[in-house]
Amino acid sequence: MDYQDIDALTEEQAKAELARLAEEIAGHDARYHTDDAPEISDGDYDALRRRNLAIETKFPELVRSDSPTHRVGAAPAEGFAKVSHIVQMLSLGNAFEPDDVHEFSDRVRKFLSVPDGEPLLFTAEPKIDGLALSLRYENGKLVQAATRGDGRIGENVTANALTIKDVPHKLEGEDVPEVFEARGEVYMSHEDFAALNERMAESGRVFANPRNAAAGSLRQLDSEITKTRPLRFFAYGWGDVSHVPADRQSGVIEAMGRWGLTVNPRMAVCASVDEMLAYHKAVEAERASLGYDIDGVVYKVDGLDLQGRLGFRSREPRWAIAHKFAAEVATTVLEDIDIQVGRTGSLTPVAKLRPVTVGGVVVSNATLHNEDYIKGIGGDGEPIREGRDLRVGDTVQVYRAGDVIPKVVDLDLSKRPKDSLPFVFPETCPECGSDAVREEGEAVRRCVGGLICPAQAVERLKHFVSRNAADIDGLGAKQAEVFWADGWIKQTADIYTLEERFGGDNIQALKSKEGWGSKSAEKLFRAIDERRILPLDKFLFALGIRHVGEGTAALLARTYMSWDALRIAMEAMAAGDADARATLVNVDGVGEVLADALSAFFAEPHNLEGLNALLTHVVVEDAAPPAQQGVLAGKTLVITGTLERMSRSEAKARAEAAGAKVSGSVSAKTDYLLAGEKAGSKLKKAQELGVSVLSEEDWITLIES
Ligand code: IVH
Repeated sequence: MDYQDIDALTEEQAKAELARLAEEIAGHDARYHTDDAPEISDGDYDALRRRNLAIETKFPELVRSDSPTHRVGAAPAEGFAKVSHIVQMLSLGNAFEPDDVHEFSDRVRKFLSVPDGEPLLFTAEPKIDGLALSLRYENGKLVQAATRGDGRIGENVTANALTIKDVPHKLEGEDVPEVFEARGEVYMSHEDFAALNERMAESGRVFANPRNAAAGSLRQLDSEITKTRPLRFFAYGWGDVSHVPADRQSGVIEAMGRWGLTVNPRMAVCASVDEMLAYHKAVEAERASLGYDIDGVVYKVDGLDLQGRLGFRSREPRWAIAHKFAAEVATTVLEDIDIQVGRTGSLTPVAKLRPVTVGGVVVSNATLHNEDYIKGIGGDGEPIREGRDLRVGDTVQVYRAGDVIPKVVDLDLSKRPKDSLPFVFPETCPECGSDAVREEGEAVRRCVGGLICPAQAVERLKHFVSRNAADIDGLGAKQAEVFWADGWIKQTADIYTLEERFGGDNIQALKSKEGWGSKSAEKLFRAIDERRILPLDKFLFALGIRHVGEGTAALLARTYMSWDALRIAMEAMAAGDADARATLVNVDGVGEVLADALSAFFAEPHNLEGLNALLTHVVVEDAAPPAQQGVLAGKTLVITGTLERMSRSEAKARAEAAGAKVSGSVSAKTDYLLAGEKAGSKLKKAQELGVSVLSEEDWITLIES
């Protein structure tokens, strides 16, 4: 078929062609993946995908929801199909100390306006150290099992889940809803783990801990292998459901148990923080004899109406928290101190340890945080370890808590070798020789080499391709390092010209590298193509700016909505525009530290050059506007005065969930003023400007309509 030049396409023609391409490519996918009977050559197929992508790049507003660029439903022959979670799979915030649990309870009470004297129930249950699994039942029958993935998209592991004996193929009971997505944790018992490793030892490969064993077993491509692995499952929550069988968390768990799912027999309901802490203590005491790994206790607000009101912040529910157990400890020798340079130039000292088992895992590296930490000075400038420094050759104690990187926490001075010397922290970067500077009030020393520092450049590259960032399949940290070392990828933009430089007739160079053949190269090029359009939040996170984690990237995306708007604001701020800075700092969840980091990033010419190069290959998709229906969508609301029926934070969260922006001051742009009791100057100003004023009654009616 002859194709019209893309630049000459009208919007209408482009739309029609994207529709045709989506259908045609889907047909080829099915014939290739499902029927194993492709009709066209790989080259022709790729040409179709490329044309589709080129049109999408020219007309980003026409990208279809079933675009082949985004559709990952057809499994690559050697991978799992992807599953979009209808309800996101979230993670949990952590509490470590009893005070953190008190604060959690206080936060919940404040948000819900439940005074201290009034009862508030929480469930408490063990936090299983495994991996999350979602099981979708339709009309009682298990139709799909999926891993958590990045919370939005996971892997379809249905065939494997069906081999787990705690996973019923059918739910039994009068009240089983039409759709019920049960969520819980897959894990392996200590006994089964030991036996599996004994079997595996013959092949020379063993798992480091039961969690890795569970993950490795669930993610086997051949379900026959999973079947031989003794996996277990506890259900503790739910996702997409047509009906909730109770009005309390504890009630739903009880129902899931009745229907045949395995639920943890230790779940309890607590009526106070004291009861929660007592529960934690009791479970911790039982920990060693449970027979499976747990790394803490999870508390959840029991009332589902309250859970609904509390909602989520970033990727964590406000209504639940994980109370972690104290770490495990072991003694070993500090053999050396290495300095690693991170993506933002930070020099981090890493302890090289004589290998030691801590809580079932062999540890040979541990963090030493920063130079003060080695000297025996804490974050607040006060002495730690009674001021004792750490030296190579010292006998040290190592702590490991769950997933957290092990730490060196203390030392035994009596065992210090006579000839040991204090550690001298480098003042130049071990990677590029640039100065390593410690700014006033900072604990961290940073290399000033920016992108000329190879360590920073390669760390940024690894971050860019990583799972929760651009997520380029086939280009993991290892491959990125190799391409970088060979000079094939010097900056992120170079990823997108790999095919131009090393595809087609030039494939030989790539093929001569270990582990690369025509097929894997093709796969890599396609994976890269699929990431030529990146959602704003992923793009921002992928840039690897200091302090811009996933949650912050999402927050910035929601605030500015488009890359252009964000960039204009950031560059203005970097150039000293006070208004641009004030707008950013006014966003709930943004502080001066983040504003400084963004200013520093956008003020650096190297970064802007790198960005411009990247943007010649990548289209940044606008953030999806929040819930579009309803009178509050897209409106700006200001809250003032005292509210009787909900806290200000709840009112704000409800408004934001309904798509409104909550601002701190009344202006001509304000759509509504929610005025509680004793409203003052803001009410006056709103009246002067003719802004609609809502009483608390009006407000409740509005959000409940
Ligand atoms: S509730 C919205 N309950 O811990 C709340 N999670 O660190 C979702 N986990 O991703 C989680 N035991 O994989 C919950 N009893 C439990 C759990 C549990 C283990 C895991 C889960 C979650 C992770 C967060």
